[in-house]
Amino acid sequence: MIFVTGGAGYIGSHTCLELLTAGQEVVVFDSFCNSHRESLRRVEELTGKPIILVEGDIRDQPAIENALRTYKCSAVIHFAGLKAVGESVEQPLAYYDNNVIGTHRLLAAMASCGLRRLVFSSSATVYGEPQHLPLTEDHPLSATNPYGRSKLIIEEMLHDLYRSDPTWQIAILRYFNPVGAHSSGRIGEDPQGIPNNLMPFVAQVAIGRREQLMIWGNDYPTPDGTGMRDYIHVVDLARGHLKALECLDRPQCFTTNLGTGIGYSVLDVVKSFEQASGRSIPYQLAPRRPGDVASCYSDPSKAKQYLNWAAEKDLLTMCVDAWRWQTQNPNGYQTE
Ligand code: NAD
Ligand code: UFG
Repeated sequence: MIFVTGGAGYIGSHTCLELLTAGQEVVVFDSFCNSHRESLRRVEELTGKPIILVEGDIRDQPAIENALRTYKCSAVIHFAGLKAVGESVEQPLAYYDNNVIGTHRLLAAMASCGLRRLVFSSSATVYGEPQHLPLTEDHPLSATNPYGRSKLIIEEMLHDLYRSDPTWQIAILRYFNPVGAHSSGRIGEDPQGIPNNLMPFVAQVAIGRREQLMIWGNDYPTPDGTGMRDYIHVVDLARGHLKALECLDRPQCFTTNLGTGIGYSVLDVVKSFEQASGRSIPYQLAPRRPGDVASCYSDPSKAKQYLNWAAEKDLLTMCVDAWRWQTQNPNGYQTE
């Protein structure tokens, strides 16, 4: 039984689907502060398998302990947390509370139940301003905002925990830019309000929900001047978690990137999305967004060697799948 915190969210729901498809049983622990029950209902529908749902907050240690014991969980995949960079600057305490204190409570609950197998969602944001590209796992770490700092603190907490008790089995996964949706078009990313991230914003422009895309900066030192990122299909990313779980058959604490290793510019994404959707994406060039880096892409070789995992889906597939999700669910999970 795999205990999935934040399993109703964007990456969590896709991972639950892959887990169930692979024959695992799943308990989702989620507060629904940034998701809908409907995502899990659809995962059950797609797989024909049930998900055990426990509604709760990861800061509630007794509730976690109770669920871990009741369902005899053998591993935890920990997605739950807040993830909006701008919001974290405005509300740092909410981020330290949810992400850092929440993870502390989760770890304490696990320890008290004698469960020491964990996959943790970290982020490429822990590399700060890249000093060399592609980003290898040994690149120096730094944070430029409270969200990133919460991920760094958690990574350090996990290393300390492992040092204190080397029977822990911990995988720290640093995601690059997850995009796209399941090929069924039934589950996908459902941002509340105005999307912060490029792909959901572009999808909403394509469908006519927003007038135009603002491209933040075309004077970066990149081939076309716009920011470059390592976009990774969410289904590839989800599958990386299953590979990480397979590796956690012995005590260790390892860290790996999950990315494609390829950097695409904002304009590359716009062109690909136009091709995928057959719609034109009007855009306007605007000043740089504070805090953005010019380029960020992974060296994916450690994941290949260590997890025997590599991303398979290309940018056009990411756009085609994001577009299918957008057209079938113009208002996300609240469409029906
Ligand atoms: P999401 O917001 O869609 O999912 C997070 C889930 O956690 C939601 O279902 C939310 O309701 C739940 N949650 C939040 N706080 C909770 C709490 N205190 N108790 C219980 N449940 C809680 O986000 P996502 O994109 O699926 O991201 C999952 C994880 O991956 C996060 O930790 C995020 O920081 C990390 N990550 C995401 C990205 C990205 O771009 N999406 C990139 C790097 C890392
Ligand atoms: N961009 C635009 N217009 C938009 C949105 C984004 O031009 O409306 C550009 C950005 O300037 C950047 C690129 O598109 O060059 C990608 O931006 P995203 O916001 O989609 O992604 P980021 O790389 O900025 O941020 C993501 C996650 C963060 C995480 C960070 C580093 O959203 O949580 O990666 O891992 F911290």
